[in-house]
Amino acid sequence: MLSPIIEEALNGQIKIEAQSSQIYLAMASWAEVLGFEGVAQFMYAHSDEERMHMLKLVKFINERGGHAKISALDAPPTEFGSFKEMFQELFKHEVKVSACINDLVDICLKEKDYATHNFLQWYVSEQIEEEALARNILDKIKLIGDDKGGFYLFDNDIKLLITTANKA
Ligand code: FEO
Repeated sequence: MLSPIIEEALNGQIKIEAQSSQIYLAMASWAEVLGFEGVAQFMYAHSDEERMHMLKLVKFINERGGHAKISALDAPPTEFGSFKEMFQELFKHEVKVSACINDLVDICLKEKDYATHNFLQWYVSEQIEEEALARNILDKIKLIGDDKGGFYLFDNDIKLLITTANKA
């Protein structure tokens, strides 16, 4: 059984994951309109992953006798400047999400809810992978600089990271 404090905290995380899914969907759409098919595919897949993160929380809360609440979301931006800026934004966002997961883990320890603590370990590992992936992409973008040919190759290469991300 979840305590009201844990239930509220997990419900807060549902919103964060849903919001992440929306932001990445907006990034996917923007990249697609610009004709970058690989980046768009990567971001669509990333958006789906965030929805999966949200659903895991919904199921867990309900299974543990709580009530998962689905709330309104803020509209994400429609334009993201450059790919460098977009991936910087993604990285910053993931660092924020990691901090939220850490706060949740902390609350679980204070509340002595070891079942939820155990459940959250999956998110802790996932955040390590997500931050590493975003950092890896940013490193590649820095190497490319303003080289248009480099971006064409990057758009192709990023498709390979979709399988890696989905396997994780
Ligand atoms: Fe579900 Fe990317 O954090």
